[in-house]
Amino acid sequence: MKSAEKLYGLLGHPVGHSLSPVMQNDQFAEQGLPSFYHAFNVPPEHLKDAVQGLKALDISGFNVTVPHKIEVMEYLDEIDEEARIIGAVNTVVKQKDKWVGYNTDGRGYVESLLSKTGDTLKESNVLVIGAGGAARAVVTALSFQGVRHLTITNRTYSKAETLREQVPQNSNITVLTTEEAEKENPTFDIIINTTSIGMSPDTDKTPWRTDNMKPNCLCSDLIYNPLKTKWLKEAERHGADTLNGVGMFVGQGAFAFYTWTGVWPDLQRMNDVVMQHLG
Ligand code: ATR
Repeated sequence: MKSAEKLYGLLGHPVGHSLSPVMQNDQFAEQGLPSFYHAFNVPPEHLKDAVQGLKALDISGFNVTVPHKIEVMEYLDEIDEEARIIGAVNTVVKQKDKWVGYNTDGRGYVESLLSKTGDTLKESNVLVIGAGGAARAVVTALSFQGVRHLTITNRTYSKAETLREQVPQNSNITVLTTEEAEKENPTFDIIINTTSIGMSPDTDKTPWRTDNMKPNCLCSDLIYNPLKTKWLKEAERHGADTLNGVGMFVGQGAFAFYTWTGVWPDLQRMNDVVMQHLG
């Protein structure tokens, strides 16, 4: 390792299949930055020690993934506003002498959505299915971005209500039951699945009906493995445009890279690297 080299990492459990190291290391090389990114498999009982260790080693920044995104906040000096609202951190950077936590998941998602919708996103009527951690990131980022109207629906209604209350700019956010939202289906321009339904290779379940959608509706699934879930295939058969979760994964990595280095990475190249490993 050269003396000028900076070290970055990922804390998760498990991390063996993570594509972040290959994506970030390729981008460091591409940008001519003498830096290295390594994935550390850290079980929950060792998270505190792992973070203290990274601080002691004066690492330049790190990502945090499942299951540590909430607990890691206890060990940081400051939490950025968006991450505080989302209630989870996925990117940490040392700024002056403080360890600061950010959440780039939502912004990464909005970036990928914008690549499909362009300016029309602001005028869109959006449905979000789910109210877990991924939904919190997406809803918060969409509320910062600004959309015409946002509806949240979730199997457990009360969790969707709690999510709405956590978002500061929530006057254009409605919570509906599954039955109510299904009736509104023909009005949505964009439908986003944030649940894990469709991730398991042997599931027959889909998260949402596709037979009564608005023509030209955009169906977006945060899942990227498989690249096309059964729901997205069904939606395409009903004439919808589709977006999988690759763009969100790449986008969160791009914003993390920018937070650490101040350099905006080559998004297309990051996407290509990920696709080479998924395709
Ligand atoms: P993540 O951090 O990936 O969002 P999570 O916080 O566990 O994971 O949230 C999972 C989301 O998927 C929740 O909204 C969950 O609904 P509940 O709040 O009712 O649990 C939703 N979900 C998961 N499996 C589901 C299923 N089989 N049917 C409907 N919703 C499901």
